[in-house]
Amino acid sequence: MIKRIPVILDGDPGHDDAIAWVLATASPLLDIKAVTSVCGNQTIQKTTYNAGRIVTLVGLHVPLAMGRVKPLVADAIIAPTVHGSSGLDGPALPEPADKPVDTDAATLMAQILEESDEPVVLIPTGPLTNVAALLLLYPHLKNKIRHIYLMGGGIDFGNWTPAAEFNILVDPEAADIVFQSGVPITMAGLDVTEKALVFPEDFERIRALNNPVATVVAEWLDFFYGFHRSIGYPGAPVHDAVAVAALIKPEIMTMVDMYVAVELTGDYCRGTTVGDKLGVLKKPANARVIMDIDREAFVDLLAEAAAHYGKEA
Ligand code: RIB
Ligand code: CA
Repeated sequence: MIKRIPVILDGDPGHDDAIAWVLATASPLLDIKAVTSVCGNQTIQKTTYNAGRIVTLVGLHVPLAMGRVKPLVADAIIAPTVHGSSGLDGPALPEPADKPVDTDAATLMAQILEESDEPVVLIPTGPLTNVAALLLLYPHLKNKIRHIYLMGGGIDFGNWTPAAEFNILVDPEAADIVFQSGVPITMAGLDVTEKALVFPEDFERIRALNNPVATVVAEWLDFFYGFHRSIGYPGAPVHDAVAVAALIKPEIMTMVDMYVAVELTGDYCRGTTVGDKLGVLKKPANARVIMDIDREAFVDLLAEAAAHYGKEA
């Protein structure tokens, strides 16, 4: 009997967050304890509504809590050009079966950590606002966080500015708190997620599975690819699912331990994750940075997850 890993999913769905949550929910290795929403791709109201629709679609019956209305310090930035005005444009989805709980995201995270008889893994795939709030408000629970598998940053390049990746840029102060916390981090940054491309023929492979969730995943990929095709991508970079895949199948990835700092100032560099590849700062590594992935094995993982929803319960 596999001992399942207790996990909290935190995200700003967002098409790639949604696919990451489909992957996590299908995995027999994970015991998802809660889902929390964060403002990022869309407003907190929209990402929370989308989170409720996703967990209803996949049949994930766990508490959902709404995150903070804005980043710790910065003003909110949203991404309607990528994810649409709803934040999850494309296929029709069920209405949320349940309302979010009354407590906010950081408090629900703290409750789960408090109640768990073992440390819990956090998988944030949006800005790190809620995780930073958890660390600030409940410092005594830091040792109940087993590991943070995050999608965010990029050592060699950014995507929202030339230097900064969206999730980190939206809330750099939160990211700085997380990277300086001492909690073990695996960072799925753009260095690897831009290689985690799902091609149109892969969409058809998933659509052909012909179960309700697989069909929705294929249609999420159709929509998500629309923006990326318009800027010359050969496929959809399913960024957030890499953070989940790093936990459930690390052997398909190449990872490097290094010290990572978050730049908080600068007209061109605010929100940059600066990775000390050569160790010149002589500081201990605070992150395991994923630098490469077996793309085909990654797509197989997504397809296997989508197929899970067609099996008899
Ligand atoms: O830069 C990619 C990240 O920003 C992904 O998490 C995507 O969902 C958006 O939040
Ligand atoms: Ca996201």
